Amino acid sequence: MSEKFLFPDDTDRVDGVAKVTGKARYFAEFDLPGLTYAVLVTSSITKGRITQLNTRNAARAPGVLAVVSHLNRPVTAGYESKEGPAMRIFYTDRIFFNGQPVAMVVADTFERATHAASLVEVGYEKEAFNTDFDGSLDQVKKPKNPAQGAYQRGEADAYKQAAVSVEATYTLPVETHNPMELHGILAFWNAADKLTVYAKTQGVKATQGTLARTFGLPAENVQVFSEFVGGGFGMALRTWPLEIGTVMAAKLVGRPVKLVITRDQMFTMVGNRPAAWQKIGLGASRNGRLTGITHHSLAQSSVYEDFMENITGMSKFMYGCENVNTTSGIVPLDLSVPIWMRGPGEATGAFALESAIDELAFKLNMDPLDFRVLNDPETDLEKNKPFSDKNLKEAYKRGAQAIGWKNRVQRPAQLTEGDWQIGYGVSTGVFGAFRRSATVRAVLNADGSLVLQSAASDIGPGTATGMVRIAAGVLGIPASSITFELGDSSLPPAPSQGGSSTLSTVGAAVNDVCLQLLGNLKELAVNAGLKADAPFADILKKNNLPYVEVTKESKGGAEQAKYSMYSFSIHFVQVKVHRRTGVVKVSRIVSVGDAGKIVSPKTAKSQMVGGAVGGMGMALTEEAVLDSRYGRYINNNFGDYHVPVNADVPDIEVIFIDKPDPHINPMGAKGMGEIALTGFSAAVANAVFNATGKRIRSLPITPDKVL
Ligand code: MOS
Repeated sequence: MSEKFLFPDDTDRVDGVAKVTGKARYFAEFDLPGLTYAVLVTSSITKGRITQLNTRNAARAPGVLAVVSHLNRPVTAGYESKEGPAMRIFYTDRIFFNGQPVAMVVADTFERATHAASLVEVGYEKEAFNTDFDGSLDQVKKPKNPAQGAYQRGEADAYKQAAVSVEATYTLPVETHNPMELHGILAFWNAADKLTVYAKTQGVKATQGTLARTFGLPAENVQVFSEFVGGGFGMALRTWPLEIGTVMAAKLVGRPVKLVITRDQMFTMVGNRPAAWQKIGLGASRNGRLTGITHHSLAQSSVYEDFMENITGMSKFMYGCENVNTTSGIVPLDLSVPIWMRGPGEATGAFALESAIDELAFKLNMDPLDFRVLNDPETDLEKNKPFSDKNLKEAYKRGAQAIGWKNRVQRPAQLTEGDWQIGYGVSTGVFGAFRRSATVRAVLNADGSLVLQSAASDIGPGTATGMVRIAAGVLGIPASSITFELGDSSLPPAPSQGGSSTLSTVGAAVNDVCLQLLGNLKELAVNAGLKADAPFADILKKNNLPYVEVTKESKGGAEQAKYSMYSFSIHFVQVKVHRRTGVVKVSRIVSVGDAGKIVSPKTAKSQMVGGAVGGMGMALTEEAVLDSRYGRYINNNFGDYHVPVNADVPDIEVIFIDKPDPHINPMGAKGMGEIALTGFSAAVANAVFNATGKRIRSLPITPDKVL
């Protein structure tokens, strides 16, 4: 098992040089003979019908090859059978949200396509619409999946009978997906029934499947390439209508078509973290034992497709409490459908729960760390199973030491530095630790170099680096002699990169295929009269083999059913709040990861750092502001939608518990993409309370709320 692992010393990101020298090619950088450029025309109304679509002037503009719309889109098998995506682009004259694509102009240059798109004339019949989440909390749609709905153990609303209790409402605005790389796709038809795309996707197999179903093709006729992705965060876990539209356009013009959407289109076309309303009630005995947790959540969704995430998940198992009840619902609005976004569900829920825990600890006059440690459960009371591995007490302790928690004063608004008020906050984060099924091919060449292949993705965490390190550990060869190939749908299947499961899933498959390869090589060595541990190159040479190849599928087994598996994080922050302006500066960050064995320390640290920066944005600045009179976002650009920049971000200290989880996979390694962000916003809110005595229950924590 894991103890036997001999990981090499830390490895630099294997594709780091390619990324910083421009050698790494992202979907938009591919150039093909006859390449054409697409630009979208979008709806200026929020709900209704297209009554007139005049494309004549656009079609006659210089360089224009086609204007695609519901009037002329090619026959698309999956649309008619409803196998395709729920929002079928260019399907009818219906408008479901402001900014919905109504036509796509294809031209020989991007500039000509942009100009021609401005010449498309659209007439509409408007209908009354509703995009106001806060004003629609009584218009709830119950979830289809009962597992996401009501939950109860013990008594409902037990907090109301508790000796000490808190009850409060927490709100989060829409947070939009804004990775550096804009979304889009490059598509071309090699033949009438053969399609190739360069995509931005977290799963080449998933994209292949969706395109195959939508266009009525056998999966093997759809080739998807996505080797490098400039940030995914959940947005690229599905194939969006704009991608389907581009594939249609490529069919119509018979040439490769590339679409890269604009920054403002990112706010309406690729999902978002849904706005959410949560009400939490917590109760405890006077000595600080939790006796009741009640958590209700409502989140924004769309009228044309349901989206629901697990917002109340953490409340069910995080703390040792006999009485827990939760409900969840969605509020369908005339907006584009949300999607998962880093720490989906849990990040929203953790803001409310971990703020409320802080509030109750304060009411009990307990240190919030002591309160958490006191209520840290031995087993998962929701699933009724032991945790596969959990080291929270150690994690709290080490983080507290690193941030200097002893300098914190329990009574708020006590520490100052000139006009700045200083406070400390802590929060716990959590996300399920999964192991799914993946297949990896290993090819050992005559020179001793190893190539591993799997249709996995890398949206940034450094997938190949982790895989190379696992293989090096099993085979005892240098990481530099190993290559991991991914992002190509023709490779052996792997699941999409989402839910922090790639290292666990694909890594375990790498481990298993390398073990089998090692076994085969030993056999070959002995048969050829060599020592079993002879150098691999010698074994191949003696056997006259140009290479040895093994392909193996690997997946989680009985262990997954026996244990409750989670990754945990503890975020500690120190904030400085300006007395006169209300500006909140995050002055120190310590994030502790309890995610099993750390396979690749350098890239793992980067994950935690990136998550903390994302958490800072969520806590302090990120908010897609909607004008519900028009159904439009009014800050849909980087000038007005604020994300943290270098000057905002302090040094971030990352601590890993780094103990193998004995049950999850052979490496003992769990995911950490989601836990890097989950809970962070509550740590900031709790620190702002400690600094100022002001409890802010509505994200982001902007100066107007602080003053
Ligand atoms: Mo994951 S929701 O793809 O960050």
